[in-house]
Amino acid sequence: MQPQKVIAPLQRYSPCDHPRSSEPLMREISMRRREFLRTTAAMTTGLVLSSFANAAEEQPTPPPISGGNPVGPFTLPDLPYAREALAPHMSAETLDIHHGKHHQAYVTSLNKLVAGKAEATQTLEAMISTAEGPLFNHAAQHWNHSFFWTCMKPDGGGKPTGPLAEAINRDIGGYDAFRKMFSEAAMGQFGSGWAWLVSTQGTLSVTKTSNADLPMKHGQVALLTLDVWEHAYYIDYRNRRADYVAAFLDHLVDWEAANRRFIAG
Ligand SMILES: [Fe+2]
Repeated sequence: MQPQKVIAPLQRYSPCDHPRSSEPLMREISMRRREFLRTTAAMTTGLVLSSFANAAEEQPTPPPISGGNPVGPFTLPDLPYAREALAPHMSAETLDIHHGKHHQAYVTSLNKLVAGKAEATQTLEAMISTAEGPLFNHAAQHWNHSFFWTCMKPDGGGKPTGPLAEAINRDIGGYDAFRKMFSEAAMGQFGSGWAWLVSTQGTLSVTKTSNADLPMKHGQVALLTLDVWEHAYYIDYRNRRADYVAAFLDHLVDWEAANRRFIAG
């Protein structure tokens, strides 16, 4: 009989179910260990390369479909902070609904749209560059929200420092001018959309986009964004969008993250 300590972790290969000599079993264990190590290394590399990694790149085999709900290649990223960490400026309830319901819904719908299609193997960015209609909307909203969560941090806000602060002085006229332009973009976006700080070949500007539209469709690199869809602020601020914009600028912006993006180009 094989030693229990070796066989127990691989119960599906229990000698009671699959009688076999020890040599093939040990070969199987060794092979599966190598496969596990290769898979772990591939997953680790993927995580380092891109926070928006398309899981299909590491998992070429189409994912299973169960319960009528396609489990596609795209997944909801974890928030980079605890759900309570941004309160009182952004409540845990808002993050529960915005991240856990709205963003999750975009991911779920995106996976349904690409299920069984060639698009399932595309990166999110490649899909956004060519897709139209519902596929573009859901792909772009997945990207926008994934980006938005990384634009905030607990005890953030205030003025930027470093190279980004210098570029804001050079291209926009200083922080006060940036704050005025960004607030006007966020307040002036009629209906749903986004306010952005972007770089166009190193030159900064403030923009706004409607619905799911985003800077990469306009040759710009996104450095910072604020979601001004009503679902982003209605629980905490009701119709007071101006208070939401001010809270974001004064208490939530992660300028260090924006600096890293600016430096990376
Ligand atoms: Fe949103």
